[in-house]
Amino acid sequence: KRVAILISGGGSNMVALAQSMTGDHPARPVLVLSNDPKAGGLARARDMGLAVAAVDHKEFPNDRKGFEGELLAILEAAQPDIICLAGFMRVLSAGFVQRFEGRMLNIHPSLLPKYKGLHTHRRALDAGDAVHGCTVHEVTAALDDGPILGQARLDIGPEDTADTLAARLLPLEHALYPAVLRRFARGDRTPVLIP
Ligand code: GRF
Repeated sequence: KRVAILISGGGSNMVALAQSMTGDHPARPVLVLSNDPKAGGLARARDMGLAVAAVDHKEFPNDRKGFEGELLAILEAAQPDIICLAGFMRVLSAGFVQRFEGRMLNIHPSLLPKYKGLHTHRRALDAGDAVHGCTVHEVTAALDDGPILGQARLDIGPEDTADTLAARLLPLEHALYPAVLRRFARGDRTPVLIP
């Protein structure tokens, strides 16, 4: 299976995914694509010998169709079977999502369906939640709303801040996403639950 990974920033989830696709794993990374030509993850992907590309969304102000059209052209050339959104911070249109229905995944830093959207760590803290976590789900037209393929949870401590939660959650993301992809690439949609 050919996997394209879409990033916007540092790409730590992309690195974890790319590093997991070895040996008898049925998938291989064929492209790392960003909406920001300066994304740190692009340099990390290049250092790993991965094909990279970028479409600067700032060159398409108020023109989502134009931006997505560029993304699609690059993706069509790469012929991915699966797309992994990994720290990808642009909302994709229903039309784009439909092109990859059932084979596009995303990782979101909350225990969905709680806290769709942004500032998830702050919202969990403000709500006084005892538990937080991250979710890998199939991408559908509605934001952060598709079928759940995996979740990892962690306890919120009394000293936790949004920053410490994000930092403690990241390693769990790096364990969860590759575990979900391994199953998904084999056609297994049984949710991965950590712990
Ligand atoms: C992570 O918190 C992830 O959950 C969110 O983006 C953040 C950075 O991810 N989607 P990465 O290091 O760019 O993979």
